Amino acid sequence: MTRLSYMHPSTTTVQWAGHFEFTPMPGCSQMVVSHDMFLKPEYRGKGLAKEFAAHRYRMAKGFGYDTMICTVDTANIPQIKTLEATGWKFANQFVSSKTGHTVAIYTKVLNED
Ligand SMILES: CC(C)(COP(=O)(O)OP(=O)(O)OC[C@H]1O[C@@H](n2cnc3c(N)ncnc32)[C@H](O)[C@@H]1OP(=O)(O)O)[C@@H](O)C(=O)NCCC(=O)NCCS
Repeated sequence: MTRLSYMHPSTTTVQWAGHFEFTPMPGCSQMVVSHDMFLKPEYRGKGLAKEFAAHRYRMAKGFGYDTMICTVDTANIPQIKTLEATGWKFANQFVSSKTGHTVAIYTKVLNED
């Protein structure tokens, strides 16, 4: 697992705005699980989500991965809208027996664009 930062250039300095983690898929080293993505609350709702998403793709490509996969609670509208606006494809969904929440699975092929 690799934890990575998202730095946002403010008008005067570069500030730590969030983080995300990559874990290679066991048995399929060209696929990476993107998880624990987080924007600090003060950076949310400012239209940064798409740029943050693009940063993750650049990093994943830079690491040499070909495909990404992630999960998202279907109640998380900002994240679902961001995934769908940035080329992720809905793959399936399930109800978590742990939380009772519906969880969607999304994938993105990195070398398509
Ligand atoms: C997920 C996260 C990175 C999104 O960043 P954000 O700044 O909150 O997202 P935005 O405000 O830019 O919203 C993204 C899109 O959803 C839309 N949106 C947000 N809330 C909405 C709502 N209630 N109904 C409809 N659309 C909504 C926004 O308008 C935006 O669409 P646009 O780009 O077409 O304008 C951030 O909320 C976060 O870190 N959340 C906590 C951790 C988390 O949930 N991580 C993901 C785990 S899978």
